[in-house]
Amino acid sequence: MEKSMFNFQLDEERCIQCGECALDCPAGVITMMDGLPRFNEEGGCFLCQHCLAVCPTGAVSILGKNPDESQALAGTFPDAAQMTALIKGRRSVRRYRDEEVAAGLIDELLDVAAYAPTGVNAQGVLFTVVKERTVMQALRLEVMERLGSLKKSGGLPDGFIGQYMGGAVTAWVEEGRDIIFRGAPHLLITSAPKASPCPSQDTLIALTTFQLLAHTHGLGTVWDGLFMMVLSLCPDLAGRLGIPEQHLPGYAMAFGWPAVEYHRTVQRGPALVNVVR
Ligand SMILES: Cc1cc2nc3c(=O)[nH]c(=O)nc-3n(C[C@H](O)[C@H](O)[C@H](O)COP(=O)(O)O)c2cc1C
Repeated sequence: MEKSMFNFQLDEERCIQCGECALDCPAGVITMMDGLPRFNEEGGCFLCQHCLAVCPTGAVSILGKNPDESQALAGTFPDAAQMTALIKGRRSVRRYRDEEVAAGLIDELLDVAAYAPTGVNAQGVLFTVVKERTVMQALRLEVMERLGSLKKSGGLPDGFIGQYMGGAVTAWVEEGRDIIFRGAPHLLITSAPKASPCPSQDTLIALTTFQLLAHTHGLGTVWDGLFMMVLSLCPDLAGRLGIPEQHLPGYAMAFGWPAVEYHRTVQRGPALVNVVR
């Protein structure tokens, strides 16, 4: 048995010598020798675990992971019609019930969203989440107060950001309407180390993954570009929310139990397609 920091282990009794682990390794660090896979620890393994996932008999372990503890996949994916309905039927939700999502469900969603792909498998996405309604309400009040002060002092920028933020203050002060967070009880912000290969893409893919999964649980979500504008106007806020200085705040998403039900899809398309010939 080989031992390394990657801890590649082969159960020779289970191995059927099919070579799938070597064929599928994107870094090419596994080669077949005398019918058995051999792992090259100098080869640039980037911890993707494809070797563990592709082995038909569960003979391969890496990073100390027991293949028998992975979820078996045969027949478990949603079918194409279900995925199509989810993608077409998901709507931005802007009306929420005044009810907290159970912390355990939020944890479960985040643990699954953390399976989203990341460039070079960096897995550096941080999920900054507001789990408690009271904390969300305090954030809402803080944001509205800060925007109100900026508006009063002429500190809002010219152009569409200033217009949106000014409109948000007016809606809040005159009607008690929160168009920054759409009255949602929870907020999720993804960030990733600026030094990672694809921080911006990683954060967006993680949020997209979270969003689709959240909707399968009956939750509602809305991408929160207006809060991203708030972050750009209040540069200290990301740090105060615990987002590390060396992270790029990727995007924000408000979520909660919806107070609205959509009965049919919208109708879009056809896709704008440019076929290369
Ligand atoms: C990057 C991005 C930022 C968005 N920001 C906001 C926002 O700040 N507030 C909001 O109510 N909706 C926001 N939306 C939702 C869009 O308005 C919405 O996706 C679009 O109108 C299509 O509606 P649908 O999501 O229901 O299909 C945002 C969407 C995206 C993709």
